[in-house]
Amino acid sequence: MRFLFVSMLLVFGFSSIKTELVDSFNKCSDFFLNEQPPVIPGILENSISRDNNRYKRICQKYQNAYRFATLYDTQTKIPVFSAYRYTGSYKGRPHIPWMIEPQLETYDAAMRQPCVNQAFPGDYWAQKPMNQDNLTRGHFFPNCHAADRVTAESTFTLTNTAPHESFNKGSWNKTEITVRSTMNSHCRNKSDHIWAFVLTGAVPSNKNLLNKRVNIPSSMWTVFCCYNSKTSTWESQAHWANNKYEKNTENTIKPRSVEELQKFMEKTYGSVSLFHGVDCSKI
Ligand SMILES: *[C@@H]1O[C@H](CO)[C@@H](O)[C@H](O)[C@H]1NC(C)=O
Ligand SMILES: *[C@@H]1O[C@H](CO)[C@@H](O)[C@H](O)[C@H]1NC(C)=O
Ligand SMILES: *[C@@H]1O[C@H](CO)[C@@H](O)[C@H](O)[C@H]1NC(C)=O
Repeated sequence: MRFLFVSMLLVFGFSSIKTELVDSFNKCSDFFLNEQPPVIPGILENSISRDNNRYKRICQKYQNAYRFATLYDTQTKIPVFSAYRYTGSYKGRPHIPWMIEPQLETYDAAMRQPCVNQAFPGDYWAQKPMNQDNLTRGHFFPNCHAADRVTAESTFTLTNTAPHESFNKGSWNKTEITVRSTMNSHCRNKSDHIWAFVLTGAVPSNKNLLNKRVNIPSSMWTVFCCYNSKTSTWESQAHWANNKYEKNTENTIKPRSVEELQKFMEKTYGSVSLFHGVDCSKI
């Protein structure tokens, strides 16, 4: 059995992240503004879920520290969102195989593939010979928003990704980069360090990868809220876009307000509150 496991590691090259499944994000609440996770009716309320079997709260721990938080949907096998703090960015992309979360599986299930409760590297490879090969693994907490190499590595877990159409390389990538520079100049805490709270999520669709396990989200959204010590105000900005094939790689995504994003999300989830209890209405 051990031999089998080791050879599977060699064959599939997957490694695992040491995460903690938690009841209420209590161990990693500092990735949320005011330690308040969003309110998403029926999915996350008062930091807990009505459907604990389906929605898993993950404190993403890597190399002995919590790096970010994810609310993961084991049915669609993509995150509802990942939450992180942006404090500046590391230049580069680490070379690291995609990781899975051993805690989402029983020990036995983790040895077999595909995994029962999460996406497995093979789910994405299954696309290759087929006709959906425009799809890539899109990060929620993106590598280019990580402050250091180890945090950047921690983002390479399949519980922090969803299948993205070519917009991942086009307008979504551009949004990640422009949001990063907006945060660099607008988000300063009282000691004048870069400091922002970011949530990035996906709206699931009724389409799946070809093996019928992993959902291809219909859209992606991202929003940040931060204090600007230069103006002594709270600032925020939201973006969302359809996850689609982009012919024009010059497409850009328009910045919007938190309220507009919440209104957009209302169609899927009902009345959501992304930064619960803080007025992040500016920008
Ligand atoms: C995103 O854009 C940057 C800058 O143009 C580029 O270096 C990077 O390779 C792009 N990333 C993806 C995933 O396309
Ligand atoms: C300000 O941000 C830095 C990181 O950029 C952090 O280390 C520090 O604790 C923050 N200070 C406050 C008062 O939030
Ligand atoms: C995949 O990309 C090609 C162009 O490279 C495009 O013509 C095609 O429509 C795309 N397929 C899907 C399913 O989006």
